[in-house]
Amino acid sequence: MESPSLPMPAKDWTTTSLHRVLCMQGGEGDVSYINNSDSQALAISLSKPLLISSLQSIKLFFSPDDDHTFPTIRVADLGCATGSNTFNTVDTVVETLRRGYNTVYGGGQPEFEAFFCDLPSNDFNMLFKLLTEKQKIESSTYFAGGVAGSFYDRLFPKGTIHVAVSLSALHWLSQIPEKVLEKGSKTWNRGRTWIEGAEREVVDAFAEQSEKDLDAFLKCRKEEMVKGGVLFVLMAGRPSGSVSQIGDEDSRAKHPLTTTMEQAWQDLVDEGLIDEETRDGFNIPTYMRSPEEVAAGFDRIGGFKIEKLEYMTTIDHTDERKEEWKKDPVAYGRARSNLVQTAVRSMVEAYLGPDLCDELFKRYEKRATTRELLHMTCFYGLVVFSAIRI
Ligand SMILES: C[S@@+](CC[C@H](N)C(=O)[O-])C[C@H]1O[C@@H](n2cnc3c(N)ncnc32)[C@H](O)[C@@H]1O
Repeated sequence: MESPSLPMPAKDWTTTSLHRVLCMQGGEGDVSYINNSDSQALAISLSKPLLISSLQSIKLFFSPDDDHTFPTIRVADLGCATGSNTFNTVDTVVETLRRGYNTVYGGGQPEFEAFFCDLPSNDFNMLFKLLTEKQKIESSTYFAGGVAGSFYDRLFPKGTIHVAVSLSALHWLSQIPEKVLEKGSKTWNRGRTWIEGAEREVVDAFAEQSEKDLDAFLKCRKEEMVKGGVLFVLMAGRPSGSVSQIGDEDSRAKHPLTTTMEQAWQDLVDEGLIDEETRDGFNIPTYMRSPEEVAAGFDRIGGFKIEKLEYMTTIDHTDERKEEWKKDPVAYGRARSNLVQTAVRSMVEAYLGPDLCDELFKRYEKRATTRELLHMTCFYGLVVFSAIRI
C-alpha cells in the first residue's frame, strides 16, 4: 500500500517541534489529565514523606541584614500539568516550610511565590481556573505565576529559586534522538514505537539523549537555584542494573507504552491503514533512568549534594478500581485507552492526523478490553531524589 500523506513529517515534530506538540490532554473530559492521573497521584503520596523530610532538613532562609524580614521564598514546579496533583505538591512544599519558619521564628513568616512551569502546549487556562476556585475556598498561602517553557532550558534568573520540584515529568526527553529517525540505519526502531525490547543500538541512542537532557536540566537548575535550596525529583525509572525499561512481564503487558500499544499499531499495519515505515517512524520520547545514571549526571555537572536517591515502585491503580473493573471489562478497556490518550494523543495526532489517531485508540481499547489484563498488576518504576544546591 502507498504510504498515506501524513500531517507532519516525523523529523519535524519529534526533534525541533516536540515541545509544541507534547502535552497531557487538557480540559476536564474523559481523556483529560485531570481525570487520568491516579497513578501519578499514588506516586506523589508515596514520595511525600521523602519530600517533607528533605524540606525539613534544609536551613531556613532569612534576610542577610537580620532586620526581622525574610526573603520571598520561590518554589518552582517543573512539568506541573493541570489538576489536583499540581496543587498538592506546591501545597506540601509551602506548608512544610511554613511550619519550619513557625517553629524556628515563632510566627515570623516569609511570603511565598509558586511558579507553575510546563511546556507552552499545557492547559494553563484550566490550571489557573482551578487555582482561582481553590483560592476562593482556602485562604491563599502563596502568590502564583505560570512559566511556559522547557525545563531543559533556563526558566528563571540566576540564584532565585529556593525549592524546585519535578514530579512524573523528567522521563520525557527533549526530543527523539535524530539517529533513530535515519531510515535503514542500525538505530532505526524497526517494528516498534518505543524502546522496550528494541535493538541495543536504539536503546543506546535513547540513553545518550537522556544523558544530554539530564545534564541540561541539572545545569539550568544549578544556575537558577539559591545555595542551600532543595531540588526534589520523582520520575519514571528503572532499578539499578536493569537493562529492560519495564521490569516484569505483567507490567510490560499492561504498561501504556508497551505490548498492547504495539499490538494496536500492528493492527493498523495489518489492516493496511498505515505501512510499516510509518509505524517505525513514530517513537515515544521517554527513557527510564536508573539511579546510577542519575548519580552520574550529578557527578558531571556538580553544584549539588545528593541527599537521597532511591528506586521505588507504585501500581497503576488502586485495588478498589480493579474490583469495579472486574465486573465491567469494557469500561476497563475504555479507561485504559483514555489513560494512554492523556499522555500520547497529542503526539500521535500530530503524526497520523485525527482520523487515523482515532482508529489507533479504538484498536487499543478493543485489545485492552480483556479480563486477562485486568488480573495482572502493572508496577511503575520510579526514581526519586533530593539534592541540596551547594
Ligand atoms: C505526567 S505529567 C506530570 C504532571 C504532574 N507533575 C503530576 O505529578 O501529576 C508530565 C508533565 O511534564 C511536562 N513536560 C514534559 N517535558 C517537559 C519539558 N521539557 N519541560 C517542561 N515540562 C515538560 C508535560 O507537558 C506534562 O505536563
